[in-house]
Amino acid sequence: MKYNLIATCTFGLESVLKKELIGLGYNDLQVQDGRITFQAEELGIARANLFLRTADRIYLKLSEFKAEDFDELYEGVKNIDWQDMVPVDGVMHVNGRSKKSKLSSVPACQSITKKAIIDKMTKSYGVEKFTEDGKVFPVEIILENDIAIVTLDTSGTALYKRGYRLHTGEAPLKETLAAGLILLSNWRPNIPLIDPFCGSGTILVEAAMIGRNIAPGLNRHFLSMKWDFLNRSIWKKAVEEAFDKRNTNKLELFGSDIDPKVIKYAQLNSENADLNTMIEFKQQDITDFKFTNKKAYIITNLPYGERLRNKSSIDELYRSFKNSIKYNDQFGKHIFTSHEHFQEIFGRANKKRKLYNGNIKCHLYSYY
Ligand SMILES: C[S@@+](CC[C@H](N)C(=O)[O-])C[C@H]1O[C@@H](n2cnc3c(N)ncnc32)[C@H](O)[C@@H]1O
Repeated sequence: MKYNLIATCTFGLESVLKKELIGLGYNDLQVQDGRITFQAEELGIARANLFLRTADRIYLKLSEFKAEDFDELYEGVKNIDWQDMVPVDGVMHVNGRSKKSKLSSVPACQSITKKAIIDKMTKSYGVEKFTEDGKVFPVEIILENDIAIVTLDTSGTALYKRGYRLHTGEAPLKETLAAGLILLSNWRPNIPLIDPFCGSGTILVEAAMIGRNIAPGLNRHFLSMKWDFLNRSIWKKAVEEAFDKRNTNKLELFGSDIDPKVIKYAQLNSENADLNTMIEFKQQDITDFKFTNKKAYIITNLPYGERLRNKSSIDELYRSFKNSIKYNDQFGKHIFTSHEHFQEIFGRANKKRKLYNGNIKCHLYSYY
């Protein structure tokens, strides 16, 4: 049996998520802003959660139907065979979103959805009251252009929480976004990689996992592992595949940062991920940074300047950075920042991609 799955991602990462899905063997993809719908066997639920580096969550799509009023919404939700998935004591949290739809009140849509589920379960189980003290099933009702999509969140904790990052400095990148920047840069594991503003080391830890082909979800759990309607063997199979896919590539990864505290965090995080032997971290101000390796790639997330006293000091910092890497004219530089006038300081990028870091509009400026 095939399932319809939805992988969500940060706006701007759809193209890399698409490549990742194709790499996993899923080809029939429907790409929309921030999400990709695809079909997979049951095993695909485990593989998508375990292997995708840029997806935020994996949803099981249960139904899609027109819903211009509450009756249509109620009937559509009630048509789903909830009893085949949710046990009699299952906990059903209903979340919702509405965009360009007549049904614009999200709380009302959530309560109609919940009522329809309970009514269907009452009919199926012959029970009036549900204790809701068992396993959790997060339901999401999405309304877009008067079309309702009903999903179950199979991931639980968002996928950017890989489990290795216990310490962060200010403004850390989400792990999924850091992986996205690396995949967008087309870095290859045989090329040395430097992050001279490495903070808690997210870009380099993600690069080590990409370089060694380590599945990002290997050290965590996913909510749907507990669901009885899914065959437990899918998780075992996906984990075995993940172990088989790992390689022993030699990597050259270097991180530095002015702040000794975040360098300590970066070291601890890389130890947690068991990747510390592959990354060299050191405390260093960018003004002391000597760029001697002409063949290295730079992927970095510059400070945005909110915390610096004035605009001229952040511009000064960016100029120092430009000066310190001027000898690296042969390999890629990929710089992620929200600075509005970045190119005035750094020069025109070969490629500029808009991406959001949380709510902050940023760009990845690529110089090939
Ligand atoms: C946006 S944060 C990087 C966050 C990192 N990507 C992460 O995920 O943790 C920018 C970093 O630049 C560092 N920084 C600021 N001024 C610096 C300088 N003059 N030289 C080197 N690093 C500096 C800050 O300490 C901070 O950790």
